Amino acid sequence: MADIVHRENWTSRMGVILAVSGSAVGLGNFLRFPGKAAEYGGGAFMIPYFISLLIIGIPVAWAEWTLGRYGGVRGYNSAPGIFSAIWRWKGSRYVGVVALLIPVIVYMYYVYIEAWCLAYAGFYLTGSFPLEASLGPERYSDFFNDFVGMHENGINLMGGWRNPVVFLVVVTAVNLILIYRGLTRGIETFVRWAMPTLLLLSLIILVRVLTLGTPNPDLPEQNIMNGLGFMWNPKPLEEGGALFSALLNPQVWLEAASQIFFSLSVGFGVIICYASYLRKNDDVVLSGLTSVGTNEFCEVCLGGLITLPAAFIFLGAAPLANVVGSTLSLGFHTFPQIFEHMPAGSFFGFLWFFLLFIAAITSSISMLQPVLAFLEQDCGLRRARAVAALAGLTFFGNLLVIYFSKDLVALDTMDFWVGSVLIFVLATITVIIFGWVFPLEKGLQEAARGSDFRIPRFFGFIIKWICPAYLLTIFAFWSYGSVPSHAKALFGNPPAVMTLSFIVLVALLFIVLIHRGNMRSTPRRA
Ligand code: ALA
Repeated sequence: MADIVHRENWTSRMGVILAVSGSAVGLGNFLRFPGKAAEYGGGAFMIPYFISLLIIGIPVAWAEWTLGRYGGVRGYNSAPGIFSAIWRWKGSRYVGVVALLIPVIVYMYYVYIEAWCLAYAGFYLTGSFPLEASLGPERYSDFFNDFVGMHENGINLMGGWRNPVVFLVVVTAVNLILIYRGLTRGIETFVRWAMPTLLLLSLIILVRVLTLGTPNPDLPEQNIMNGLGFMWNPKPLEEGGALFSALLNPQVWLEAASQIFFSLSVGFGVIICYASYLRKNDDVVLSGLTSVGTNEFCEVCLGGLITLPAAFIFLGAAPLANVVGSTLSLGFHTFPQIFEHMPAGSFFGFLWFFLLFIAAITSSISMLQPVLAFLEQDCGLRRARAVAALAGLTFFGNLLVIYFSKDLVALDTMDFWVGSVLIFVLATITVIIFGWVFPLEKGLQEAARGSDFRIPRFFGFIIKWICPAYLLTIFAFWSYGSVPSHAKALFGNPPAVMTLSFIVLVALLFIVLIHRGNMRSTPRRA
């Protein structure tokens, strides 16, 4: 491990809360959550959702905040170092690879979707979106499929200003500049501006949606109250099922837990890194809870009240039944149709996609920071070189996502194996480290230092026993239900195999770098 020459810290509590909330609030809140909730039982989905929030979301977030700060005050900002500071086992640094791999691989596809959002905002602003009704109702999905190259691999590497790659270059540059500027001058300064903007934009859109009433008097049932009911009324998953049949379906519990992880950015390797920039006596318990609360407000109160109710009012229940659950269809096929019907639709179209872009960029910068910290600290690179190395690495990942665009295979492969499977793995590792390795008593004491209130004792029990049991049970169900079909789908699908091989190569690269770092010097202990 290279000697730590200087240590950056957040300048204020507000700064770190905004940064962690910025990481959490993203496309998951405005697109993924409403789609999943409506698909898996509406209001009934909220029961497993809130249970998952309570028994895995909040505890894992607290564990990450606490472990991150503990490692940070000992001079470590990257997960391999943080794990080695806590867990005096030679292999612990290598376990930290998972916490580097997740954010950087998720970044590789997430930033591309972020670029689409910016592109759509630009199309609405410049009036170059295909709004002519004469083109038929399928024109938005056709437009989207052409735009992302859904029909043919490699097509997006051809030129054209409407090409998403142009927007990806812009968005990548902004991400890299922000992380190059550093924690306080880059990330913290940016989120102080971006988070209030995000809230303002979503409140404007929310007021617009809630005041829509019954826009088409010929279709009186398509009104805002029914729209809210479509999103929120508990409903059975299958026709004729019992009202809460959703609760008996393990898939619903799995989806609720995945949504909590994805949305809160827990199990991502991000919070542990951000929290490592706290000072020794900075609060972690209230700050952690505040960022969870901010995320939940944006998810349930904003995402949940805007997205599907708006879609229902203009399109009705029938067309929506096919798109709920599909984050991309909801965002990029359905919403343009809504804006076509909405008064001042182009303006609101611009606001909406710009909102998604802001939400996404505050998340994507947080996905770069863990590997940046690793390159700087564990590999001893200066900031400029570390950013260049990170740009090079993510370039190859972006290239795979752009090239294998047919059916978005590379994107889906990364999303499933890393953005879903590995997140469960890391969350489980984190609670086990906090509850058993640290161990629990020391973890709770560490969390209490400088905190405005103590983690309630029953959460100790939850972290130690319930959380790992819940995670392992869900993971077992999932491995049984989904992993074999995804593994089987790899056979005969060279783009998916190449993408998975790339992920493995990146993991090996991190392992080699950690090994070399170990050989160079001995980690510093507090
Ligand atoms: N937490 C981020 C989101 O919800 C990744 O999009």
